[in-house]
Amino acid sequence: MHYNEARFLTENRRVSSTDQNRPSHVAIIMDGNGRWAKQQGKARAFGHQAGFRTTRDIVEACARQQIEALTLFAFSSENWKRPEAEVGLLMDLFLRALKSEVSKLNENNVRIQFIGERSAFAEKLQNEMLRAEEHTKDNDGLSLSIAVNYGGRWDIVNAAKQIAYKARDGELDPESIDVDLFSQHVSLSDFKEPDLFIRTGGEKRISNYLLWHLAYTELYFTDVLWPDFSDTELGHALEFYAGRQRRFGRTGEQVQGKNA
Ligand code: FPP
Repeated sequence: MHYNEARFLTENRRVSSTDQNRPSHVAIIMDGNGRWAKQQGKARAFGHQAGFRTTRDIVEACARQQIEALTLFAFSSENWKRPEAEVGLLMDLFLRALKSEVSKLNENNVRIQFIGERSAFAEKLQNEMLRAEEHTKDNDGLSLSIAVNYGGRWDIVNAAKQIAYKARDGELDPESIDVDLFSQHVSLSDFKEPDLFIRTGGEKRISNYLLWHLAYTELYFTDVLWPDFSDTELGHALEFYAGRQRRFGRTGEQVQGKNA
């Protein structure tokens, strides 16, 4: 991010956008770092470092586009199965990124939060996550959520567990459990569900990402590997979104206001 230039988020204010053509919440699976490195004849670590630089650029671009919320899948519950050295490297990268980026993100009005089962991480990493959340909690620009040790099934099970405890303790009547109540117990409950999902790297899967939240989300897949994903590539995804008609179960005529 070119922080030395004018603040990239001077225009970054929460907008109650009536612009149906622009997503207010974008969720991304950043895939392809390893293959990108391989293409360059380099180690996977090189790909993750390049992926990190792309992440910074895309956060900046989303803020400029006045997107209200951006959720990034940085480390899945399944990523622990990678070779120990790669997991260690990713942890180092996350820690360094938190130390180096948070104050700049704060200056640019970005609010950061982490979703996922963070108790599995080293204490110093957990502390940095808390510090980042605390430091940026009053910002009202782009809301950046980073999914770490996150799995969509975990999220749903966790919500079910919380609801079950409340029912057991007499805090809620099981009859009152409905979609709205359930939504209040999954991660990101403060946000509108993602309008646009992007996955780079060519795979056409959700890979246990935001399973509950993606029910009506527009899905955009691109072969571009994450380190090559740019402002222009983001533009293609936004164009794709602008061309979609979101019906949420209604007919096209209803959505267009005919026969509604
Ligand atoms: C997927 O590429 C990427 C990851 C599992 C890690 C994501 C991390 C970053 C983008 C960098 C840091 C981000 C933050 C938020 C600090 P892959 O390794 O699965 O690539 P491959 O499918 O080509 O092997």
